Amino acid sequence: MRDNDFWGRHPCLNTVKDEISRRISDSFRFEHTLAVNDECLLLADIFGLSDKEKTQLSLAALLHDVAKGLSIDEFRALDEKYRIGFTDDDFASPAVLHAKAGAKIAEYEFSEYTDRDICKAIREHTTGDENMSLISKLLFISDYIEPTRRWEICQRTREAFHSELKAPGADIFRVLDTSIIKILDQTSAHLEESGRAVHPDLFKCKDFILKTIE
Ligand SMILES: [Fe+2]
Ligand SMILES: [Fe+2]
Repeated sequence: MRDNDFWGRHPCLNTVKDEISRRISDSFRFEHTLAVNDECLLLADIFGLSDKEKTQLSLAALLHDVAKGLSIDEFRALDEKYRIGFTDDDFASPAVLHAKAGAKIAEYEFSEYTDRDICKAIREHTTGDENMSLISKLLFISDYIEPTRRWEICQRTREAFHSELKAPGADIFRVLDTSIIKILDQTSAHLEESGRAVHPDLFKCKDFILKTIE
């Protein structure tokens, strides 16, 4: 998908992709980034996104892990530089650090390509949050289910999600919401089993989505 007309119509995506390929030296992480982007583009068609929304989602996908793998000292330096405002909860759930830092890198270092919606989706891609947009939700789920994810639980979630989307008469937006709740539950159970903290944004996200689908 990444060499199709879509790229040709949006040259900024190629520029950002080239820059990301320079910044993400780990080939596995770069392949994951491209796989998230491909999954986002697939879902963008299924969910009927406009060309503008598709470009926003693709930019969010390409940039979402730009800060992954940085050291705590590097995160602290970025916090000072961009006033990220990391909390104690963020440091207790270190996976959140790259999401919040990535949103600021997207905002300040890719400012000619990004906007608030894109940065918000990047910020929320690990835990979700309240008031998630469709772009945020599609990035969140794509990050978990993209086909290069090796964990069986991710593969099973991907298969169930795509089969529910295709079911006759499916309310695809409800399928998206219930699948996100399933992912949030799986993630919090996994963190608790391994004795790690569950970030409060994850619970906020679940409460928010539950309220909207009830
Ligand atoms: Fe990430
Ligand atoms: Fe990711």
